[in-house]
Amino acid sequence: MAEGAELWKAVDEYLVGHLIPSDPVLDETMAANAAAGLPSIDVAPNQGKLLHLLARVAGARKILEIGTLGGYSTTWLGRALADGGRLISLEANAKHAEVARKNIARAGLESVVTVRLGAALDTLPKLVEEGEGPFDFIFIDADKSNIPNYVTWALKLSRKGTLIVVDNIIREGQVIDAASSDANVQGARRLFDLLAAEPRLEATALQTVGSKGHDGFAMAVVVG
Ligand code: SAH
Ligand code: DHB
Ligand code: MG
Repeated sequence: MAEGAELWKAVDEYLVGHLIPSDPVLDETMAANAAAGLPSIDVAPNQGKLLHLLARVAGARKILEIGTLGGYSTTWLGRALADGGRLISLEANAKHAEVARKNIARAGLESVVTVRLGAALDTLPKLVEEGEGPFDFIFIDADKSNIPNYVTWALKLSRKGTLIVVDNIIREGQVIDAASSDANVQGARRLFDLLAAEPRLEATALQTVGSKGHDGFAMAVVVG
């Protein structure tokens, strides 16, 4: 029997083989991302489908994503939108945004998905000023050192019942290393401090293993 990371990958292949039929649009998105030299840090297929199912259960009509990359998770989420729904995805890297826009158009989602170019700490205040929101579902997956700042902005763009999901909060278990010099790890640690102290959020977190290694998601519902 395979062990460790090799086993996690094999089990993910088994799960995806049974539950996630091959999808030409998502396959072309992954191929276009690789061809453009984007890093392969998209969510895994079964994680993308988890986001999709959560957004569907939430009946989401307004979705906010922070961190588009090539639009792989964006496509999973865009396909979950209720009728008349809209998704805004924030991306700082012009090349990533360009690749994502092409992928989103190929997925037939260009009329419901908008990719906004700019550092999220600049574009989030604009969304508030423009009266966007409240969003029903918010996925935070950009630079990890800013996670607590993004959650604070997400609260301003939320209503009671909004679901906030944050990716990459375990970092191969490094999250428990208080002395870590990795800004990504410290971002995740400050997230948990914030979640523990913020009465408006009811939260949990799960570790994941699989094709993307050992990481995890935090999930919070706005309750106040
Ligand atoms: N959600 C994507 C993966 C996102 S990877 C998926 O699962 O398919 C993280 C992305 O966040 C990268 O494209 C990176 O360019 C972007 N990013 C990094 N810093 C950012 C910032 N300050 N504002 C907005 N996007 C940022
Ligand atoms: C990184 C970013 C991600 O969104 C991810 O899922 C994995 C890794 C990173 O910046 O290292
Ligand atoms: Mg991620």
